[in-house]
Amino acid sequence: MENLPAIARDAKTAINRAVNSEELEKVRIFYLGRKKGALTKIAAKFPSFSPEEKRKLGPIFNKIKAELAKLLEQKLREISQTEENIKTIKPKSDEASGNLPFDPTIPGSAVKFGHNHPLTLVVEEVKDIFHYLGFTWVDGPEVESDEYNFQKLLIDRDHPSRDVQQTYYIDDNLLLRTHTSPMQIRYMERHSPPIRVLSPGRAYRRDMPDATHLPDFMQIEGLLIDENASVTDLMGVLDFFVKRLFGQKSRVRFYGHNFPYTEPSIEVEVYHERKGWIEILGSGMVHPDVLRNGGIDPDKYRGWAFGMGPDRLAMLKFGIDDIRLLYSGDLRFLSQF
Ligand code: DAH
Repeated sequence: MENLPAIARDAKTAINRAVNSEELEKVRIFYLGRKKGALTKIAAKFPSFSPEEKRKLGPIFNKIKAELAKLLEQKLREISQTEENIKTIKPKSDEASGNLPFDPTIPGSAVKFGHNHPLTLVVEEVKDIFHYLGFTWVDGPEVESDEYNFQKLLIDRDHPSRDVQQTYYIDDNLLLRTHTSPMQIRYMERHSPPIRVLSPGRAYRRDMPDATHLPDFMQIEGLLIDENASVTDLMGVLDFFVKRLFGQKSRVRFYGHNFPYTEPSIEVEVYHERKGWIEILGSGMVHPDVLRNGGIDPDKYRGWAFGMGPDRLAMLKFGIDDIRLLYSGDLRFLSQF
């Protein structure tokens, strides 16, 4: 009977240590179970005690039993609350982890970062190279008038170059610009020399889509006007530009050409290992009548201009074979840049 206080102490410790309801139930059965519980067994011996022992031990026994019962009840309430909380943060059963409890140590899923489109990369690089030479840039309207897109650039209604620039007309006068060159006139009208400006943007032509043509594509126009602009400056700048973009070892060659708005007109080709010589831009000295149409005195100022296709540049630079990929939005393609 002397071990009653020791049993009580052990029982309290066991109750406190229980971490879930099953463990707690085992503790309850061990001490208070109806058949083999430690306290139950002591109670079974009571009839054999002397009246004096009964009087002495009875109250102590009852007190301990009541205390343990109360402790058990408290602990059970605590444990149920915790178990309830765990259930609510468990992952939903439709998740891959099934019914596993929430595990904060499992690594999260990776975040996908966006990046620039290859065309944007090229346009930004072209802007950078010319910015270094003192050029700024402006936007222009994609819906143009026949006057700015053609006439002020000396392309009359019956001029043969209208044939190669098959045009989307909106009405007799309005059209989708077939090149960025009308921005030369628009810029000249509002600025006086010296002028150094780029104008990147979209242009439109009625072309059947194939590996090298699309009905809408990018162009970058360049214009420089000052008192002594010359063909040699132009060629030097274009050579510098190509080497910056494609590397110092790249090869450039100049061709005579004919644009109505430049005199002389020059075409620039770059050598590509697999494809040979590829035309990347048209350029020339701005025709005096074009300067005049922009409100600039050709007796005082000269200018040169160029127009390039960044689609072409991106295809050469990154080895892309089909221009349509550039406008597809296909992530399998885009994620390679
Ligand atoms: N506008 C021409 C085209 O679309 C390119 C061009 C040629 C632009 C000569 C120019 C230039 O500024 O001087 O093919």
